[in-house]
Amino acid sequence: MAVVFLFHRVFRGSRTLTLSAVAVASSVALAVLWRTYLMDRHTVRLITQLAPDYDQRMARRKRRLFDGLHQIKAELGGERIVILEIGSGSGANFQYYPDGAQIICIERNRLFEQPLRASISQRPAVEISQFHIASAEDMRVVASNSVDAVVSTKVLCCVTDVDKCLHEILRVLKPVSFSRFSLA
Ligand SMILES: C[S@@+](CC[C@H](N)C(=O)[O-])C[C@H]1O[C@@H](n2cnc3c(N)ncnc32)[C@H](O)[C@@H]1O
Repeated sequence: MAVVFLFHRVFRGSRTLTLSAVAVASSVALAVLWRTYLMDRHTVRLITQLAPDYDQRMARRKRRLFDGLHQIKAELGGERIVILEIGSGSGANFQYYPDGAQIICIERNRLFEQPLRASISQRPAVEISQFHIASAEDMRVVASNSVDAVVSTKVLCCVTDVDKCLHEILRVLKPVSFSRFSLA
């Protein structure tokens, strides 16, 4: 009410101008509220709810895709594998990781940490070794040459600078031995 009264005084009683100003001010306030508080919460709820259904449809493809991680782990000696997951969301991919996987999560939305921890509790043989609030374009929290594999699903479409992200991926990956690419 005080705001409407203020607008009314400023616009010297013009009803149309006052109402327009109130409408603009309300829209801006709503946009700010959405961007700073509601959007991240809404995204977490939406993705956490949709992930199981999407995952069920994609299960066969994902199993095939993530098979490579089991091979890499075997090549490393079969004990453990360090996986960096960019945009780990609610942890929908954890079920496909080999036992002994140590996951470094990079996530820009801190509200995903809770559903992520809930997902990992379903996979006792896999652990989150690090959880960082960071962006794919700047992963300085992860040491260079420190991870065996990088996973990212349904994330690159949201990344603003894909070149930077790929550069970061190359930096953190351990140098690959030639044997993995052997044609023999
Ligand atoms: C559509 S969800 C996918 C979640 C999960 N990867 C999956 O496949 O179910 C996209 C996720 O990437 C995160 N994300 C988006 N852009 C990012 C960025 N630039 N850096 C880090 N995380 C990002 C979002 O917060 C969200 O958790």
